[in-house]
This record gives sequence, C-alpha cells and structure tokens, in this order.
Amino acid sequence: MSAKSDATCWGSVAKLFHWTIALFVIGLLVGGLTMTDMKVSPDKFKLYALHKSIGITVLVLMLLRFAWRGVDPRPKDVAGMAPIIAFAAHAVHRLLYVALLAMPISGWVYNSASNFPLQWFGLVQLPAIVAPDKALKALAHEVHEVLAWTIIALLLAHIAGALKHHFIDRDDTLRRMLPFGRPRADAVAPQPASPPASTDTP
Ligand code: HEM
Ligand code: HEM
Repeated sequence: MSAKSDATCWGSVAKLFHWTIALFVIGLLVGGLTMTDMKVSPDKFKLYALHKSIGITVLVLMLLRFAWRGVDPRPKDVAGMAPIIAFAAHAVHRLLYVALLAMPISGWVYNSASNFPLQWFGLVQLPAIVAPDKALKALAHEVHEVLAWTIIALLLAHIAGALKHHFIDRDDTLRRMLPFGRPRADAVAPQPASPPASTDTP
C-alpha cells in the first residue's frame, strides 16, 4: 500500500491519521461525558488529566493531518454519487475538520482561563494561552460542550453515510478507507493483456 493517496484509494498515511484520530475522538467524547458526571475522586482527576493530554494530542495530529492533506490530495468520489450527496459528504468532512481544531483549542482556553496547569502526559508543561478570566472560562466551557454535541451529530451522519455506501450502494467508499482495504475495482482490474504471440522468428 502506498503512503500517498491516488485517484481511487486513500494512502496509508491518510488512513493512519483517519483511524488514529477517530479512535481518540470517540474516546474523548465518551470519556468527557463520563468524567464530568463522576463524583470528585482521585480517579476523576486522573481521567481529566488523561482527557487533556489526549485532547492536545488530537490538536497536534489534526495540524499534521492538514499539512499532509496539502501535499496528498484526496481520491476522487466513487463513480455514480449524486452531486447533492457528494456535496453533503464533503460539507460534513470540512465541518469535522473545523470542529476538531476548535474543540481542543476551546478545552485549552477553558483550562487556561480557569488557571489550571496543563501537562502533556506528565512529561511536558504547556503554557496558558489566555490569562485567568471568569467570563472567558464560562464561554469556553459553553463552546466546548456545544462543540461536543455538534461533533457527535456530524459523526452520526458521517458513519451512517459510510455504512450506506457499503451496505446499500455497495460501492468502494468505505472499503478504500479501511486499514488494509483497496477498492474492489482494483482487485478485479483486468491484468494488462499479454502481447499477441509473435509470428516472427527471433
Ligand atoms: C466507524 C467510524 C467511521 C467510519 C466508518 C468512517 C469512514 C470514513 C470514510 C469511508 C471516509 C472516506 C470518504 C470518502 O472517500 O469520500 C472518511 C473520511 C473522513 N472521516 Fe471518517 N469514518 C469514521 C469515523 C470518523 C471519525 C470519528 C472522524 C473524526 C474524528 C472522521 C473524520 C473523517 C474526515 C474528516 C474525513 C475526510 C477526510 C478528507 O477528505 O481528508 N471519521 N471516513
Ligand atoms: C478533540 C478534542 C476533545 C474532545 C472531543 C473533547 C470532548 C469533551 C467532552 C465531550 C466533554 C464533556 C462536556 C460536558 O458534558 O461538559 C469534555 C469536557 C472537558 N474537556 Fe474536553 N475534549 C477535547 C479536548 C480537550 C482539551 C485539549 C482540553 C484541555 C486542555 C479539554 C478539557 C476539558 C475539561 C476540563 C472538561 C470538563 C469540563 C467540566 O468539568 O464541565 N478537552 N471534553
């Protein structure tokens, strides 16, 4: 599998970004909604610290993913997709990109405005990006929560779309994004015809 995408299939680097970020984000959404409901305990603090570290990791991965996307254009849409569906799918992808950058930044602003220290997995001390501020703290908290539900809605649409492609349209959209998947069209692509046997003698 090639590192770069081509016209019909995602490259291994784009797939690695997609699935690593997907796992982290689903974990952050489930973990975030769980930890906020927990009673104060050492476990709650540990979960908050883990949430922040993984959230910062997603921010870095998203920036790297953007940079990679700049040099590695996405494959063409599969043939036969209605223009309105293609438009909606691309709109969801763009909104996810924006939301997944805004989400960790709002978390970092919230943490800084609350005057909490921020450490990445206990290894790197990260600076505050805003000064302590009660009003900003409340706003960033609100933004973080609204964005969480926005991302959940976008993901439900995104996953439903991927499953529809696979099970109803039976096309290659999901297959070519799976870790070791290739478009079915590639697997059955006819081999180049062998040249006709020559009648000439050497
Ligand atoms: C079970 C979960 C998921 C499935 C089945 C899935 C499936 C897919 C597929 C098939 C594509 C390629 C679409 C195409 O070729 O046009 C794609 C692209 C994309 N997915 Fe997912 N995905 C999942 C989870 C996620 C999650 C959790 C996120 C965000 C955190 C995400 C963000 C994206 C983005 C931004 C793209 C567009 C990539 C680009 O155009 O650069 N996906 N996904
Ligand atoms: C893509 C990255 C992130 C996602 C998907 C995410 C998701 C969530 C979710 C779903 C919640 C629960 C919302 C609620 O019910 O109030 C939450 C809470 C929280 N997040 Fe994040 N988060 C991310 C990044 C970050 C980052 C980078 C930080 C800090 C540096 C952070 C700090 C917090 C804090 C402190 C809370 C608890 C708020 C409270 O106690 O009410 N998050 N996050």
